[in-house]
Amino acid sequence: WPVYAPYVAAINRLKKERNAVILAHNYQTPEIYHCVADIVGDSLQLAKEATKVDAEIIVQCGVHFMAETSKLLNPDKTVLIPDMKAGCSLAESITGADVRLLRERYPGVPVVTYVNTSAEVKAETDICCTSSNAVQVVESFGVDRVLCIPDEYLAQNVAAQTKVKILTWKGHCEVHERFTAEELLAYKEADPEIEIVAHPECPREVVEIADFTGSTSGMINYVKDRKPPKVLLVTECSMASNIASEAPEVHFVKPCNLCPHMKRITLPKILDSLCEMKDEILVDPAIADRARLAVERMVNLKH
Ligand code: 13P
Ligand code: SF4
Repeated sequence: WPVYAPYVAAINRLKKERNAVILAHNYQTPEIYHCVADIVGDSLQLAKEATKVDAEIIVQCGVHFMAETSKLLNPDKTVLIPDMKAGCSLAESITGADVRLLRERYPGVPVVTYVNTSAEVKAETDICCTSSNAVQVVESFGVDRVLCIPDEYLAQNVAAQTKVKILTWKGHCEVHERFTAEELLAYKEADPEIEIVAHPECPREVVEIADFTGSTSGMINYVKDRKPPKVLLVTECSMASNIASEAPEVHFVKPCNLCPHMKRITLPKILDSLCEMKDEILVDPAIADRARLAVERMVNLKH
């Protein structure tokens, strides 16, 4: 930690001077999550918080689609991301042209897009969803068929919880697709006390054997509330590190996988971002209004 101290001090000072706020996703490293973030959360929480921000500058510690979502909801604010290359395999799996082709193939079928997509893709769709509200969003249309794209596994996991027929796409999260039921069952067999807590971007077979499935914040709340003696968090590695201090009685069992995109964000890059006011997120005005509508429809859904 001493190695981080000068960065933490400089970032927190500059944040005040610039009237900036740092929004950080639950997958950010502990020194970002605990020492410089003003608001932490899952994708839905960050999107909602982005609508309430007073500061003139938002520094998004997360991946590109998250920063783009903040910009859509705050068109008059400056939104910075410390590394423009922080992408997402799901966001990269589909384009706006792909969605237009899907609409031609399934005329009249509502299109729900996971927030893990570009603004260009959001602009082609009816409403966004996140891992914490996907079932509610799918059911909000009151129809019997909905396209839920681009995450095939999230769509299958939603389909298991609703009567609505879910059509999907072949996108996968490169972090969660690597978990297998076989490896998790081996842990459970070795120690039946271990609870398996999985993100819905995991394959269906993994979710089927999990004791709990939910968004990143849903998983955190489950662990903090229930305090199981041993937990296997089937998700990105930093989650366990971030909550370890708040749940000291819980033993976090490996394995976990790293998201290389989330890990592009570091304290030196955050400092650089605030010093140089870079990299600024800009959204093409030709798509911004339609993409914003899809995000706002989700944010405004009653819970
Ligand atoms: P959450 O919305 O659950 O935070 O998930 C975002 C994400 O990218 C998970 O891989
Ligand atoms: Fe995208 Fe997966 Fe990384 Fe989340 S963990 S940002 S879904 S690649």
